[in-house]
Amino acid sequence: MARTRWPPLPLPLLLHLLLFAAAAAKDPAAAATADPPPSPTPWPERFHAVLFTNLTNYSDASTGPPLRITDLYYDWPRRRNLNLVRHQLSADPLYDVEWNNGTSFYFDSRSCRVERFPVGVLPPWWLSGGGARYMGRRVTGGIDCHVWGKAGFIVYYEEATTGRPVRWNFIDVTGIQQFVMSFEPGVALEDDAQWQAPAYCFPDDDDDEQGTGNGLASSSSSGDEFGDVLRHQAATRLLKKLAGAAATS
Ligand SMILES: *[C@@H]1O[C@H](CO)[C@@H](O)[C@H](O)[C@H]1NC(C)=O
Ligand SMILES: *[C@@H]1O[C@H](CO)[C@@H](O)[C@H](O)[C@H]1NC(C)=O
Ligand SMILES: *[C@@H]1O[C@H](CO)[C@@H](O)[C@H](O)[C@H]1NC(C)=O
Repeated sequence: MARTRWPPLPLPLLLHLLLFAAAAAKDPAAAATADPPPSPTPWPERFHAVLFTNLTNYSDASTGPPLRITDLYYDWPRRRNLNLVRHQLSADPLYDVEWNNGTSFYFDSRSCRVERFPVGVLPPWWLSGGGARYMGRRVTGGIDCHVWGKAGFIVYYEEATTGRPVRWNFIDVTGIQQFVMSFEPGVALEDDAQWQAPAYCFPDDDDDEQGTGNGLASSSSSGDEFGDVLRHQAATRLLKKLAGAAATS
């Protein structure tokens, strides 16, 4: 692989840079004009967002539909998070209720799956608390945004003028991209019945729970739903990893 060779800087530019560096070293005011990169805005403690989701790496081999609308209710004070996922032209929404003890329930009207994660709900500072790399300014959906990447898992766009989240892309095999269509800080889903996992999430014979994955095979419901659950879990896992990263940095 050929290495890129950068041409030498033109002399006037080089001088200018040197002079600027010297001035910046002497004069704090001049140093301040070399703006540090902007920081991400922490999430509000509670919000409701409607997300348009595209699994951009959808292929014929995969099962669940690639387009969906997700209602996200983020509730940090109560340490819970709900994704209400509606697939295109599907009448039966998929719930993903995540609790801070690491338990997540994925259920629709017929089936349920319980997953355990080592970390709970993302804190509001999962991105702003450190480790985000500023990637510059970009326009997406006609909205002028600051963009950050974190830990090679996510690219996150927020509106430059307001700090509202606009979009995030997961850097994984599914290519999940989520676009924030509405964002309502302070709005909570108060109806506890919406958070309650149905009885069929709690079978009497509790001999399951070995941490990850294979419980799917024992489930009797349609493969489509579970293929989709897996993909959704991939995204959730990444966010959980980010939460872990935020907690330790
Ligand atoms: C979803 O992503 C795919 C792959 O990038 C793209 O071709 C398609 O147009 C997208 N669909 C929508 C509705 O945005
Ligand atoms: C975690 O909390 C939820 C909601 O209170 C509960 O249903 C679940 O059983 C808990 N999980 C564990 C492992 O305690
Ligand atoms: C898309 O998915 C296929 C099949 O899972 C995978 O081999 C490929 O690497 C993925 N593409 C990207 C860009 O992740």
